[in-house]
Order: sequence, then C-alpha cells, then structure tokens
Amino acid sequence: MSHQYPSLQADNTLGLAIRAHHRIIADTPEAILTAWQRAERHQQPFILLGEGSNVLFLDDFAGTVVLNRIKGINIQEQDDSWKIHVGAGENWHALVESTLREGIAGLENLALIPGMAGSAPIQNIGAYGVELKDVCAYVDVLDLRTGETARLSQQECAFGYRDSIFKHQYQQGYAITALGLSLSKQWRPVLTYGDLTRLNPATATPQDVFDAVCRMRRSKLPDPRVTGNVGSFFKNPLVSREQADRLMSAYPDMPHYPQACGEVKLAAGWLIDQCQLKGFRLGGAAVHQQQALVLINADQASSQDIVELARTVRARVGQKFDVWLEPEVRFIGAQGECNAVEIIS
Ligand code: FAD
Ligand code: EPU
Repeated sequence: MSHQYPSLQADNTLGLAIRAHHRIIADTPEAILTAWQRAERHQQPFILLGEGSNVLFLDDFAGTVVLNRIKGINIQEQDDSWKIHVGAGENWHALVESTLREGIAGLENLALIPGMAGSAPIQNIGAYGVELKDVCAYVDVLDLRTGETARLSQQECAFGYRDSIFKHQYQQGYAITALGLSLSKQWRPVLTYGDLTRLNPATATPQDVFDAVCRMRRSKLPDPRVTGNVGSFFKNPLVSREQADRLMSAYPDMPHYPQACGEVKLAAGWLIDQCQLKGFRLGGAAVHQQQALVLINADQASSQDIVELARTVRARVGQKFDVWLEPEVRFIGAQGECNAVEIIS
C-alpha cells in the first residue's frame, strides 16, 4: 500500500509496519457510527481497535480502522460497593492505578495489562487468579446497524476463559462504548497465584498485591514500547482428563490445572519450552527468552515472520504432545478478521 496511506505501526503493540486506507480517532459513540456508515456506503471493511495489543495484522488493511478513544470515568459510592462507569477508550492500567489511588481495591491483580477498558470484556482479560468477569457489572454496546445502544449484564456477556459474547453473537457490527464495574468494599486479596502466595492474607494491602503483580509481570513479559509483542500468543489448552493423565505419566512435572467442567488446562508456555523453543528465531520474529508463550518482534519482523513462527511452534508442540495450540491473538487480514487456526495449520 502506498506511503500516502496512514501507518498503523504505533497502533499495534507488535509494531508491525502496516497501513490502512483510513485511520480515524473516535472519541464519541456518534463518531464511531459515522465512520461505520461511511465505510458501509463505500463497501469498505471496517475494524475497531483499542491499543492493538491483541491483534496480528496479516496485511495492510483495505478499509477504515477506528481507534476507540471514548473517555470518562464516573465513580459512585454505595453502602457496600463502588460502582464505576468507564468510557471504552480509557486505558485499562491507568484505571487500575487511579482506583487504587482513590482507595478503591479489587483491580490490583489485573495491573499492567495493556489495552483499553472497552476491550477488556472481549476476551475477559485475566491474570493472577482474577478475571474481568469477577468485577464486571455491565457492558454498553452500540449496534452499528440500528444506532441503538444496549446494556448487557454480566450474565448476558457469557464470560469464559478468554471468551465472551463479544467473540460470537456480538462480534460483527457492534462497538463497545462503556464498561460498568462493581467493586466490593469487603476487599479480600486473591493470593493464589505465583509470588502472591508468599504474601500474608492478614496483612497484605491492595498496594502490596499491585506491586507484586507488577514485579512478576516485568520479570517475564516484554514491554511493548521496547519489544513488540501481544502478550500470550496462544491460549492455554484444555484437554480431556484421559489425555492429561497420559501426559502426566510421561511428564510428571507438567503444570496442569483441573477445571470445574472436568477438563484439564495445560500451560502452553511450558509445552513450548519443553520443545526447546525459547529464543528460537525465524526471520525477524522470535520466541521470548523469559516466557515461551510470548512471540516477539525481535527485529523488524513482517506479519509473515510472525505467522511462520506461530505455525512452527504449533507444529512442534502438536508433534511432541498431540496438543494443538490455538492463538489467543486475533488475526486481521486486508478485509477483516480471519480464522487464526486455519492460517497456522
Ligand atoms: P485491541 O487489540 O485493539 O482489540 C482486540 C479485539 O477487540 C480486536 O478484534 C478489535 O477489533 C476488537 N475491539 C477493540 N475495541 C473494540 C470495541 N470498542 N468494540 C468492539 N470491538 C473492539 N490479556 C489478558 O487477558 N491477560 C493478560 O495478562 C495480558 N497480558 C498482556 C501483556 C502484554 C505485554 C500484551 C501486549 C498483551 C497482554 N494481554 C493480556 C492481551 C491484551 O492486553 C488484552 O487482550 C486487551 O484487552 C486488548 O486490548 P486492546 O485495547 O489493545 O484491544
Ligand atoms: N512456563 C514454563 N516456561 C515458559 C513459560 C511458562 O515452564 O516459558 C510454566 C511456568 O513455570 C508455570 C506455567 O508454565 O508453571 C504457567 O506460566 P505463567 O504463570 O507465566 O502463566 P501463563 O499460563 O503462561 C497466563 C495468561 C497470562 C497471564 C498469566 C498470569 C493465558 C494464555 N495467559 O500465562 O495472560 O498474565 O497467566 O495469570 O492464559 C495474555 O493473555 O496475554 C497473558 C499474558
């Protein structure tokens, strides 16, 4: 695509040198609607982005990219909880910090996750024992075909592991415009994961949890401002109890997390690590040395470099363990979203 088209290099945390026909910053729902209607009239593809921290552009985008920058945070105090209404274009981590500063606890385990607040419900962001679903009260969603906004309750969002209704029924033709959070005043620290288990539940403060989470994340995850990445590239796979038992007898040290549904979640990072892929490089793309689940833009990677690397990682893990990883990251082609598994199979 010609250089006269706007660059999206600063709008995707992989830092890929991608362009789009139109790049629009929207700070109101009406601006999103207008951009969508214009794209429809010209029969052009349309996509919304927050900070581009969970997307892999496969190619230049042959249409309109709208960056959601709807701002505004409104906090209301109730007897037993805090109700927070957040514009979809507020930065998630800044929200976590500002609530802590106000003496409002509950978001500290979700510190340092890049992206916008309005993107958080889409894959039900999660880290260190907490998921968005634990604090979400509602999501406001604009139907771009009718111009009407609906408020979906927490239950209606159908949250699952890295999943929600916004990846299914509400995926195409909808824009998330705001998020409602409910944070209980009866704060109980969640200290079940990693270094957090070393904190004393009787004395740990929300700030202690926040600091420990930030320390753990900084030691493993690359800062996208320095090294392009999209966090975990793949989801942690769910396998049957039988398959988990077979793998456990061959690899007794394998991390495994039995789920309420009867299936067992495995650690994709461990599986990749066991294939000796840490630091493995293909073109400008590489497997991160500190966390094998993270693929990085090591040196001016192309989209194709990242795709080839993901394909190699999936094949190597599949051949060794018969576990077939699925990307967490959304693959965006010139015309819109593509099936990520098909592309790397
Ligand atoms: P984008 O990447 O811009 O968009 C993601 C998808 O949502 C796209 O398909 C886009 O079209 C769609 N979309 C964006 N905005 C809207 C909207 N307003 N309405 C409708 N659709 C929209 N995730 C976790 O869950 N846990 C983690 O611990 C975690 N750690 C990470 C660490 C790093 C270093 C990085 C780079 C990423 C990490 N992620 C993590 C992934 C990522 O931060 C989250 O998925 C985040 O919620 C994405 O937000 P975003 O605004 O960047 O979304
Ligand atoms: N492991 C290895 N080698 C590696 C990486 C991990 O052996 O290279 C092992 C670890 O030692 C640990 C296990 O695998 O026993 C799990 O690793 P870790 O605690 O780092 O977490 P993860 O499963 O790799 C998940 C989320 C992260 C989230 C962290 C913390 C997914 C796909 N990823 O990572 O989310 O921050 O837990 O809760 O569920 C993201 O979604 O982008 C993301 C970063």
